[in-house]
Amino acid sequence: MSVELAEVISRAELVVTCGPGGVGKTTTAAALGIAAALSGRRVVVMTVDPARRLADALGLDIQAHANDPHQVEGVGADGGSLWALMLDAEATFDRLITERAGDPDKADKILTNRVYRSIAGSLAGAQDYMAIERLHQLNAAGQFDLIIIDTPPSRDAIDLLVAPDRLVRFLGHPIYRALTMPQRSFARVANAGTTAFLWIVRRLAGPRLVEETIEFFKSLSGMEEGLRRRAAEVAVLLRAKSTSFLIVSSPRAEAVAESTHLASAVVDGGFRLDGVVINLVHPLPRALDALDDLDGLEPGPLADQVAYHRELSQLARSERDEMEGLIRLASGVAVAELPLLEIDVHDVASLTKLAALLTGG
Ligand SMILES: Nc1ncnc2c1ncn2[C@@H]1O[C@H](COP(=O)(O)OP(=O)(O)OP(=O)(O)O)[C@@H](O)[C@H]1O
Ligand SMILES: [Mg+2]
Repeated sequence: MSVELAEVISRAELVVTCGPGGVGKTTTAAALGIAAALSGRRVVVMTVDPARRLADALGLDIQAHANDPHQVEGVGADGGSLWALMLDAEATFDRLITERAGDPDKADKILTNRVYRSIAGSLAGAQDYMAIERLHQLNAAGQFDLIIIDTPPSRDAIDLLVAPDRLVRFLGHPIYRALTMPQRSFARVANAGTTAFLWIVRRLAGPRLVEETIEFFKSLSGMEEGLRRRAAEVAVLLRAKSTSFLIVSSPRAEAVAESTHLASAVVDGGFRLDGVVINLVHPLPRALDALDDLDGLEPGPLADQVAYHRELSQLARSERDEMEGLIRLASGVAVAELPLLEIDVHDVASLTKLAALLTGG
């Protein structure tokens, strides 16, 4: 059943894992990275905000390794290697400004700007947009055979995919336009709404902040074209034949419902859905036919055990019913099932175990 995922990671150049919250997207991305490295590929797993213990497992230190690929020691075979990269939106934004600003003075002016500092960390979608920028850089550098991107939880749309559009829309906003045009033409074309907006900002924040805002937007304006171009290139890359989307889900009803939405969003967006991973599956306990004869048990440890066994069987069975829906949905793509392990998955050994289950290795 899971052999097909092995094929996906041996063929794809870019794999995107997406799915509802807490189902194991990051874990799956890391496990697939290990599987690919063991099959001889140079692979980088790019992750946003990994759980602390998983970051430790991959030897990632937030301070030291933000935004730069860092090799995970001791993983790989036949020339393959595993690299991990943790995304820090603010740092990537800074790097982008430094690279594109043209001269250091200009870069410095932007980087120390108060308005920039607040926008860099909080602009809606900045994180996702920066993931796109980083992906563009990694892809262009051609240092890796395979890039695996782990996305933050998503419900019915993948923020990562709409981030470029959102940023471009932001840059096309009338207020942005008005602020970045020369003062005199601004006075001529500014409509009542924009003027009122500026008046309110001036009153609330003081004239100095308004000047800073205008300064910031002016300095960004030279970079707009590059931002647009790279966003468009990534949009093409995400739809390339060599790019595979994988949905990770758990067998719980809510997760299955969200994953179903997500699958349509992926397909409708023109992306290639190549697999579904169902994680955290309770193993079906061995059938105890004799259980029915145990109905009249005296209260006590044995009765508790029997009740527990019944509950577990019921849970495992209802999970299987939920999974049916997902498996039907995923007809024609790879489907892999991962058991809920007794141990917390936070080291290379347990990730390697999941890797083997994912790829039938
Ligand atoms: N098959 C498994 N067996 C046992 N524990 C697991 C399994 N898969 C994942 N976990 C654990 O579940 C937790 C959540 O996993 P993970 O961080 O990969 O989920 P996520 O989908 O990336 O979460 P988020 O939506 O917050 O990004 C982690 O503690 C991880 O170790
Ligand atoms: Mg995660």
